[in-house]
Amino acid sequence: MKKNIISVTTTANIALIKYWGKRDERLMLPAKSSLSVGLSELTTTTTFEHAEHDSIQASELHQPHFEKKIIHFVNEFRRDYDIAQPIKITTHNQFPTAAGLASSASGFAALVLGLNKLLDLRLSNQELSQRARLGSGSAARSVFGGFVVWHKGTLANGNDCFAEELFDAHHWPTLRILVIVVDASIKKMSSRDGMRLTVATSPSFKTWCAKSEQRISAMQQAIATRDLEQVGMLAETDWHGMYGAMRDTQPPLEYLSDASWVVIKTVQHLRAAGTPCYFTTDAGPNVKILCEEQDMGIIEQTIMALNKVKNIIRNRVACEPIIT
Ligand code: PMV
Repeated sequence: MKKNIISVTTTANIALIKYWGKRDERLMLPAKSSLSVGLSELTTTTTFEHAEHDSIQASELHQPHFEKKIIHFVNEFRRDYDIAQPIKITTHNQFPTAAGLASSASGFAALVLGLNKLLDLRLSNQELSQRARLGSGSAARSVFGGFVVWHKGTLANGNDCFAEELFDAHHWPTLRILVIVVDASIKKMSSRDGMRLTVATSPSFKTWCAKSEQRISAMQQAIATRDLEQVGMLAETDWHGMYGAMRDTQPPLEYLSDASWVVIKTVQHLRAAGTPCYFTTDAGPNVKILCEEQDMGIIEQTIMALNKVKNIIRNRVACEPIIT
């Protein structure tokens, strides 16, 4: 049964084993596999309805060209599925757009899930993730909640490149991911441009890709046993590899600010003093901290006392997208 108005809420995700660099730019195929966890509080809600003519309303269109990207994405989708109907789309993020909080991941995942439902296309999970990937690589992982692996695949046509959920939100109810917002302004270079430069010029990129690919199964195992220390150490090791490749890119990429480094050092000090906590970052200055629920208080107190942080968003592992 086709419904007239569809509402979709999706969540951003943070990669524990990172995606950085493509093996095919046009098809958006990644150079390596990645593994992420969904962030319960970083949500995008998008509504879809049939209309007389196309329209896009976005409450936060801070990112340059974001609206154009959405229109292009929707048009390609309709072309590929031979659909002519005009659609009205309204989208709203609950978090700062384009500050390294992966708003494009939840945004494009919501678009795919909503169009699939509104147009009654009945795409499989695999197809949904493949379609979302064309908007933004990490969006392939946001069509699910929980812990998600995105397989890089080896086929030139990308048919074996898709994401799948490994564990749902109930698997690890005490895990917390604190998003430490140090700067909510627009990032300097898009991840797309940054990745392209890294692939073209970084001497360490290929070695990191090979090592990182092997970490996927170790990370899956560590999550299976809810081993925070192992998850955290693997995530940090992988982050160091990505960061190293960003830094030996020509010209070097730097997405972190001084405040990001102060937070990272504080995580290291807290850990040395006996509080289990681990950090990661993406293509932006905000830092994400992995910890258990019971340690959240001391970590937050210590971080806020630095006076460098705008706010902290407490996340659990995200549930599945909500489609109504
Ligand atoms: O999906 P994009 O183009 O926003 O790239 C995301 C890249 C990182 O956030 C840095 C890492 C990742 O795996 O999400």
